[in-house]
Amino acid sequence: MADVVERRDGETAITLPGRPDAELYFIGRIRTPWSRREDCPKNGLQTDATCIVEVDPLFALALQNVEGATHLIVLYWMDRAARDLVLQKPRHAEGSRGTFSLRSPARPNPIALSVVELRGREGNLLTVHGLDCLDNTPLLDIKPYFSSTDSRPEARVERAGLKPAPSS
Ligand SMILES: C[S@@+](CC[C@H](N)C(=O)[O-])C[C@H]1O[C@@H](n2cnc3c(N)ncnc32)[C@H](O)[C@@H]1O
Repeated sequence: MADVVERRDGETAITLPGRPDAELYFIGRIRTPWSRREDCPKNGLQTDATCIVEVDPLFALALQNVEGATHLIVLYWMDRAARDLVLQKPRHAEGSRGTFSLRSPARPNPIALSVVELRGREGNLLTVHGLDCLDNTPLLDIKPYFSSTDSRPEARVERAGLKPAPSS
């Protein structure tokens, strides 16, 4: 049984294993107008700000043909988030919610994703709309967004946080 620690009201943390199972390469950084969490949009549709996805020159060749896509999936590393929370209390919620039911940046592997509109490319710099991260957030990956296979118009989520978690 993992060590479980109550944090702030509605938050529960665990003790993470000493060693992670895998390593990653940061392939660049994301340049955005936001340096404080409270100024960041909660998702990329809440802003029309232009952001720059700056790919490390080492990986620049991997951008070949990327302009063929109007939209991209960008994966990034929420480097300023807690990693040990298993229960969290979103501001709008009555009760705690499991981390994997939320889009919160706080999670064991703080990987975030956004579908962005690609506005242009100059060398290793992509100009995009639709990001929600702090300036200088590490970049993990870029993939083309295929509406044919990535879109699920029938998908629904019962609004996170409206239903309190059942007591265990
Ligand atoms: C709700 S998350 C959603 C992230 C992504 N769109 C997703 O769904 O995976 C966005 C919030 O994460 C926080 N955030 C942004 N960049 C961060 C970073 N580098 N480290 C920690 N938190 C960050 C900000 O509060 C921002 O409003």
